[in-house]
Amino acid sequence: MLNDIDFDKIDINGSIPEDETNRQYYYIAKCREYVSNLKKEIGRDLTCSVKTFGCQMNARDSEKILGMLILMGYTPIESEDADLVLYNTCTVRENANQKVYGHLGYLKNKKKHNPYMMIGLCGCMMQEPQVIETIRSKYRFVDVVFGTHNIFKFAEILYTRFESGSMVIDIWDRTDEIVEDLPSERKYSFKAGVNIMFGCNNFCSFCIVPYVRGRERSRNPRDIIREIEMLVADGVTEVTLLGQNVNSYGKTLDDKMTFAELLELVCQVDGLKRVRFMTSHPKDLPDELIEVMAKEPKICKHFHLPLQSGSDRLLTEMNRHYDKATYLELVDKLRAAMPDISITTDIIVGYPGETEEDFNDTLEVVRKAQYDAAFTFIYSKRSGTAAAKKEQLDKDVVKERFDRLLKEVQTIAADRTNRFEGEVKEVLVESVNDHEEGMVTGRMDNNLLVHFKGDESLIGSYVDVKLTDGKDFYYIGEAVKER
Ligand code: SAH
Ligand code: SF4
Ligand code: F3S
Repeated sequence: MLNDIDFDKIDINGSIPEDETNRQYYYIAKCREYVSNLKKEIGRDLTCSVKTFGCQMNARDSEKILGMLILMGYTPIESEDADLVLYNTCTVRENANQKVYGHLGYLKNKKKHNPYMMIGLCGCMMQEPQVIETIRSKYRFVDVVFGTHNIFKFAEILYTRFESGSMVIDIWDRTDEIVEDLPSERKYSFKAGVNIMFGCNNFCSFCIVPYVRGRERSRNPRDIIREIEMLVADGVTEVTLLGQNVNSYGKTLDDKMTFAELLELVCQVDGLKRVRFMTSHPKDLPDELIEVMAKEPKICKHFHLPLQSGSDRLLTEMNRHYDKATYLELVDKLRAAMPDISITTDIIVGYPGETEEDFNDTLEVVRKAQYDAAFTFIYSKRSGTAAAKKEQLDKDVVKERFDRLLKEVQTIAADRTNRFEGEVKEVLVESVNDHEEGMVTGRMDNNLLVHFKGDESLIGSYVDVKLTDGKDFYYIGEAVKER
């Protein structure tokens, strides 16, 4: 077990272990020696900073990388003045991509002033061959580059860079492997993301994720439960089960298991108070899942159900395998089973060929579904995806539709949010409020944020809060009592 390992006692001059987890412990120990010597040589600590772009999958991967860096002897800091700066990148939309190139220019300058500085790139963008070509030719000052499939090999890759003194690029096309028991440094002490599966097999026509995250693989339920038990022993009370399409959990396992069955198992973990999950695909959301969710008090009453478009024609083109009517039926079923549930979504505007009629179908679903919140995106062409070959719409037309959609979504979300005004709800305190001194911020079971008077000592605790003032997207409240 990881906690019992003394990395100073690993024999780094002996043979390289064959088992992958032990092999990586070996390389962590080797880097640890290297970092320790370097610290002596320059007479100060070495710092590291991991910057995360993109979704919760990346956030979770960054925690694993940071866990390895800490074991190697680096001190984590927020600022990019660190001796090792690593960007964990996202490529789901073009602007996510551009941000990374912008930041790299800034880092190049920093490296000129710090001879010990290392720059690393990893994550989804690195799985794109044209990105690697650009880095190879125009960003020679980058030290290590790796992808989404070989994060577990980070220590080995960094060690190779230490030894060789030149840029190391290691990108895999795919992997079937799931390496367990790697270290990780959690961002929050009281809540954690837990991967239940990796990759995606859906190939929605607009989406690059299946190309950069590979085929769907489910983690063994025993490993998931073991991880959650360890997290709970370490003070965690809320977990979010992570996957690109959690509804298809278990299909790749030898002993098949449904997501609803997994949820029931997770809820049995003593000491765990809240269970969340991300993301569900509407095409395979069984009644069984809704039933388990309704009867199990630990499961938070929040459902993220990406719509993408309300037009049956576009949904078919997008390869989403549901239509407007079945989608709205799901919304009805969720609300019938759990009247207080918060339903949120993702919507794309300006998909190639979208007509005013298609867009009106989207608006219609928005009005009928009454979302508590919706993430709206302007379609972004991703090369290699099926939709990239289609003709793009006029930017002004799309922008105008986007603004109309946003207005609709915000008006509805404000109404929905404010409906609990005056009620008392349980809130898990997450942080002190950055904007207002003497206030803390927490989350209700339905994922809404609440700000109320309190101090740092409340972080991680559950407090009953009276929702005094609905502010359209969040609440101001007053603590009634701490649980
Ligand atoms: N697996 C999740 C989605 C992950 S990507 C799911 O299927 O729900 C998160 C969101 O980004 C998607 O739901 C979609 O709305 C948006 N998105 C993905 N590709 C996009 C693109 N090419 N342009 C604009 N938005 C996109
Ligand atoms: Fe992308 Fe579709 Fe997979 Fe979600 S389900 S990650 S949108 S391909
Ligand atoms: Fe982005 Fe990769 Fe997530 S492309 S949205 S970080 S899976």
